[in-house]
Amino acid sequence: MEPAKKQTPRKFTGDELVVATHNKGKLKELRELFGDRVQKLSAASDYGVEAPPETGTTFIENALIKAQAVAKATGKPALADDSGMCVDALDGAPGVYSADWAEEPGKPRDFGMAMKKVHTLMAGNPDKKAHFVSCLVLAWPDGHYETVEGYAHGSITWPPRGDKGFGYDPIFVPDGDTRTYGEMTSDEKNATNHRAVAFKLMMAKCFS
Ligand code: IMP
Repeated sequence: MEPAKKQTPRKFTGDELVVATHNKGKLKELRELFGDRVQKLSAASDYGVEAPPETGTTFIENALIKAQAVAKATGKPALADDSGMCVDALDGAPGVYSADWAEEPGKPRDFGMAMKKVHTLMAGNPDKKAHFVSCLVLAWPDGHYETVEGYAHGSITWPPRGDKGFGYDPIFVPDGDTRTYGEMTSDEKNATNHRAVAFKLMMAKCFS
């Protein structure tokens, strides 16, 4: 039997890419990473596209749901990120539920509460290891898609430090540094973080 042929990834050739996120922190990071690499970088909200329910149980599934919903609604290629923080001592939680841990009915997202939950559940466990994951999916209106995944490894610290960044940044210290992501400038965080790693992989795969 012939070995399965490796498919060549499809390249992005258009002049407009829609970023399928409603998270302002992620949109800002992606805009900074893209710079002037695409002629026009729009947001799903520019088209009035609502965020679909993230019903997947993996980062890839959720990113695919978001990218395909926006590509279908706008008729343009769409890029979605699904990301989260996985804590070893919590068997990978909060993982795909990272945003949910900051939610309470009728209230705005509260990451102070979510970080406290991480700390409380770790209950003094000496294993502080954690990593961020970013899965990027580029989807075309005809249903074709390409995926990549990036990781940032580090450890959990308590109490939270720094007021930059977003989400769990103030309790995450990336390997090789002593500061939390919350204490870094966006340039410093963007140099090595999970989205930057995934972004570089996506650039090489579909934008080169
Ligand atoms: P989603 O990908 O929109 O489902 O949200 C993922 C959640 O993971 C975000 O709301 C943040 O809480 C968290 N998260 C993802 N990336 C980062 C990061 O770079 N720093 C801090 N928190 C993050």
